[in-house]
Amino acid sequence: MYIADEVLKDREWISEKIKIGEQMLYLTQKEVISLGLKEENILNLTRDALIAHGTKEYEMPAKIGIHPFKEVFFHAMPAWVPSKMAAGMKWIECYPYNPEKFNLPQTTGLLVMNDVASGCPIALMDSAWITAMRTPAVTVLAAQALHPDAETFGMFGCGVQGIEHVKYVVHVLKKLKKIYIYDIKEAAMDDLIKECQPLIDVEIIKGDNPEMVTKSCEVLSSATIILLDPLAEIKDEWVSKGQTILPCDLNTYFDPVTSRRADKYIVDSKEEHELFAGMGYFPDGLPEIACETGEVIAGVKKGRENKDELIVCSNIGMSVCDVVVGRELLNRALNEGVGVKLPL
Ligand SMILES: NC(=O)c1ccc[n+]([C@@H]2O[C@H](COP(=O)([O-])OP(=O)(O)OC[C@H]3O[C@@H](n4cnc5c(N)ncnc54)[C@H](O)[C@@H]3O)[C@@H](O)[C@H]2O)c1
Repeated sequence: MYIADEVLKDREWISEKIKIGEQMLYLTQKEVISLGLKEENILNLTRDALIAHGTKEYEMPAKIGIHPFKEVFFHAMPAWVPSKMAAGMKWIECYPYNPEKFNLPQTTGLLVMNDVASGCPIALMDSAWITAMRTPAVTVLAAQALHPDAETFGMFGCGVQGIEHVKYVVHVLKKLKKIYIYDIKEAAMDDLIKECQPLIDVEIIKGDNPEMVTKSCEVLSSATIILLDPLAEIKDEWVSKGQTILPCDLNTYFDPVTSRRADKYIVDSKEEHELFAGMGYFPDGLPEIACETGEVIAGVKKGRENKDELIVCSNIGMSVCDVVVGRELLNRALNEGVGVKLPL
């Protein structure tokens, strides 16, 4: 059987640090964070992953999952990105009621990374931080491609994702003058401002209501809650031509009418959106998909073609991004001797 030289070279490098087949590296969330990946690093890694996806140089079957109750899911998210020698799988849950009921995050999970030559697991690490970082990276890279001159950005949902979106967006939308935020919880907005305003020069403004934020911003994103029945809090009549809407919460927060009437409905992964549609998350049907986010980032398909286009770009999350970030974390951890080696 033929194994490419670079795969064998990679195995050689890994085996200098860990006994492949006998051990794996375990990284806690604290250790993952301690490896020092900054927003610029995550943006570069995520861009590479999106380009690999857009140019079809990857393998990533649509998520499979289990659903112990209504509105909750666990997803298995495997991916292989050859350009990064990144092979692994994220196992993640989405429990929307966790914050209220258990004072726990909506999303927690683990990422397994594997040696490509032998297939052996070589690392297990927290994936909540990776998810919290690569998700805003995807949103803002799409914003940069679709609306680079935007002066206003609006964020609905000021939790884990909302906070990171605000931190990430200033790296790519260089003309931003104002960021509007909105959350049903006043305290979440206050916490976001407290954490983010000292870090960024752009003024962060607390929105009075969703309508005010929608009408004040060229680019909008939402990270609230994913439900089977859309909340449709953002009324279609508030949305105008020329806006760019980037939901992270699938079909929940914006009125689904907007996605259906948009000039372009772009998604990170057609297969993933079709899968969620099959699970019932698009009760009125999946809008017609123009192309994929990675294709726009890679320059394979056109994004915005004129300033009046209303564009909705829905990114539900792709494991190509997780394994590419995970591989960089693994490299750093092996180089720096971070983490605990556990016997297999
Ligand atoms: N697309 C992706 O790749 C991806 C990745 C991770 C999480 N998510 C999704 O993003 C969403 C947010 O995740 P998180 O980790 O930031 O959760 P979180 O619980 O930390 O934050 C969610 C925030 O949304 C607010 N919110 C809830 N309902 C609202 C409403 N109707 N109007 C305004 N605000 C509302 C909550 O008060 C909370 O502050 C979840 O739906 C999650 O599943 C998507």
